[in-house]
Amino acid sequence: MLAVFCRTYGSSDVVTIEKAPKPEPGPGELLIRIHAATVSAADRRIRSLDVPTGFSLPVRLMFGWSRLKRPVLGTDLAGVVEEVGEGVTRFKVGDPIIANVGAALGCHAEYRTLPENAAMVMKPAHLSFEEAASLVFGGTTALFYLRDLLKLQPGEHVLINGAGGAVGSAAIQIAKAMGLEVTAVASGAKHNLVLSLGADHAVDYTRDTVPGTTAQYDAILDCFGNLDHAGCRDALKAGGRLGLVVAGMPQYLAMPVINLMSGKKVRAGVVAEKSEDLQELADLAVAGRFRPVIGACFPLDQAREAHRLLDEGHKTGNIVLRMV
Ligand SMILES: NC(=O)c1ccc[n+]([C@@H]2O[C@H](COP(=O)([O-])OP(=O)(O)OC[C@H]3O[C@@H](n4cnc5c(N)ncnc54)[C@H](OP(=O)(O)O)[C@@H]3O)[C@@H](O)[C@H]2O)c1
Repeated sequence: MLAVFCRTYGSSDVVTIEKAPKPEPGPGELLIRIHAATVSAADRRIRSLDVPTGFSLPVRLMFGWSRLKRPVLGTDLAGVVEEVGEGVTRFKVGDPIIANVGAALGCHAEYRTLPENAAMVMKPAHLSFEEAASLVFGGTTALFYLRDLLKLQPGEHVLINGAGGAVGSAAIQIAKAMGLEVTAVASGAKHNLVLSLGADHAVDYTRDTVPGTTAQYDAILDCFGNLDHAGCRDALKAGGRLGLVVAGMPQYLAMPVINLMSGKKVRAGVVAEKSEDLQELADLAVAGRFRPVIGACFPLDQAREAHRLLDEGHKTGNIVLRMV
């Protein structure tokens, strides 16, 4: 099979397309023919080691000191079950599925095996494989932050910074499905998109002051990681919450102290892979409340171009790698 390799850390130049042995499913495993996978911010962070302050040591310890121990990146996939190993009961050959493998990686390839109890659900029939793969990365992150960390309630007002990206574009739609008022922050070129996804207001960070000085938001979701925390506290109502999708070690260390001393709370965390979350996103898609945004699609042999676009830092929604 063909796979996209990143053997060393670096720019998009480290990306190569190589042949690799086709994996075989063991007992309790599925062999999946991958149709599509996203090339996400997580792939860029691992490949480039451009990680929030204090995380480069943990990343090297986890993924390899100078060379990547798991050189095929890709945290999500949409594909079809091609073979099942002994004892598999949850899925059968021919099932179209979506999966979230997270840091286990390995989805930028034509095939991957997965244990049947991996975070995996049936693909909603009306979504293409490209759209289904794009549901995972931004969707699971947005769900975790809005529902679990910020615990938003219907009628509350949330500001979403970095609203035109994978996490932000999913967050707008999930927030609207939760009954929230949404102000989206994005460059002007993305305002039609964020408004079409349901945002009630759009703010251009190149022209306007973000987040502003009036205490008007119940929560701020910073998906880009550049908002000034003191400024965010001013823009939050009493009891407001700031969600840091991008947080370095200093922010994690300061969080308990801030949360002890202030009525306005700061929340951050790392998303875990769960089938229930994928199912919730698939249900939202079936109900017409969530349609993943795809900014660009590349065939497998153009994976380096996909990484190049990712490195520019202004992508729209998801970048998808198409294997079929
Ligand atoms: N905590 C976790 O578990 C977790 C999970 C997933 C992702 N993340 C992190 O979340 C971040 C976002 O991921 P993503 O996939 O959504 O990235 P993305 O798709 O690249 O989106 C980032 C968006 O930010 C916008 N942007 C660029 N400069 C900006 C600025 N100065 N102010 C406001 N917006 C700006 C970009 O478009 P425009 O400039 O055109 O508006 C882009 O659409 C990444 O850093 C990723 O590592 C964390």
